[in-house]
Amino acid sequence: ALAAPDPRALLRWYDRHRRELPWRAAPGTRQDSYRVFLSEIMLQQTTVVTVRPYYAAFLARWPTVAALAAAKLEEVLSAWAGLGYYARARNLHACARAVADAHGGVFPDTEAGLLALPGIGPYTAAAIASIAHERRAAPVDGNWERVVARLFAVEEALPKARKRLRALAETLLPDARFGDFAQAMMDLGATVCTPRKPACILCPWRGSCVAQAQGNPEAYPVKAAK
Ligand code: ADE
Repeated sequence: ALAAPDPRALLRWYDRHRRELPWRAAPGTRQDSYRVFLSEIMLQQTTVVTVRPYYAAFLARWPTVAALAAAKLEEVLSAWAGLGYYARARNLHACARAVADAHGGVFPDTEAGLLALPGIGPYTAAAIASIAHERRAAPVDGNWERVVARLFAVEEALPKARKRLRALAETLLPDARFGDFAQAMMDLGATVCTPRKPACILCPWRGSCVAQAQGNPEAYPVKAAK
């Protein structure tokens, strides 16, 4: 029988293998909510490699949420050029204005408060709540979904399986270090539990993973036939 996946095993792995990324705070410290917000909006449909220079440029030009709120929309859109999905830039700006105008320039520090802001959906709310505020929240993205689908060999197909994957993901949450755990799941999915040829030999959860025990991790997540 397989052991239940221990969230602390993933956190120990993260302590050794975490990727150094410009939007990550030093180990043991919290990241500023504006920086988490900016990076998570940029990373939604864009790769880490592409986001890096844009993140640096935005932060240099608009170092605070108040500065971004004071910018003209046209300036933000032109700085965004090349990242694609321009609705994200409009939402970024609208959200910065809402935080500056209605919240005194301070991001709400709960998932519910964040979700009430324009342009912030469940993923971004959970990312900011966990990474900036150490709230118990699960920013479930494609990486999380793939890891969870394999750990539990979820046979239900995406997109219907989303609810089930989220519920299973929440069972994995540790008792502390929620921001590190969120980013550990992203790193595990990006570097070990990859869509093709996952490196199960390097996985801190290999003794708990049903799909790896079956020998077919690539079969998960199951996708609905097109
Ligand atoms: N993708 C989305 N958010 C991320 C983060 N905080 N670190 C690495 N990759 C990510």
